[in-house]
Amino acid sequence: MQSFLYALIQSIHNIGAVVIVGVGAYGLFFAHQNTRRVLAVVQALGWSIQGLTGAAFGATTFYFYHQLPDIHGVAILALLIKISCVVSGFVISALYVLLCSRLSPEISKFAWSMMFGLGVIAISSAAFLRWYS
Ligand code: HEM
Repeated sequence: MQSFLYALIQSIHNIGAVVIVGVGAYGLFFAHQNTRRVLAVVQALGWSIQGLTGAAFGATTFYFYHQLPDIHGVAILALLIKISCVVSGFVISALYVLLCSRLSPEISKFAWSMMFGLGVIAISSAAFLRWYS
């Protein structure tokens, strides 16, 4: 049951990662300005899913072992980077949804660079969290 739960959470978490990086790249390099608002909604959902499933990993461990995952050093740093990416990515994508009609092309491009860049940083940190924990 425990392995099944971890695998289920990981599946959703992996799909969230694909959405964030994929939609981030599409929004930055290929999308037309008209479609970027919808893409930013998807981005905001993606960041939310990552936050929720990330927390679900911790909650599952707590449920079965009555303590949070025992991680140190590089793994803690990687986790903190991921959490910071989730918070910043969600705030930027949500602000983009609310304000996009008033943004200059330069600011719009900067916002998409941030969304894509934070996704790349988070997915790279995932590798360090995985192999240092
Ligand atoms: C609140 C934020 C997050 C938390 C708490 C979190 C937590 C976790 C945990 C506990 C794992 C399992 C690590 C292991 O196998 O030892 C994991 C794996 C993973 N996470 Fe996150 N994560 C967060 C955000 C993100 C984000 C934003 C992305 C990508 C955009 C991401 C991508 C991944 C990937 C790809 C894996 C699989 C790594 C592998 O097995 O090689 N995570 N995450």
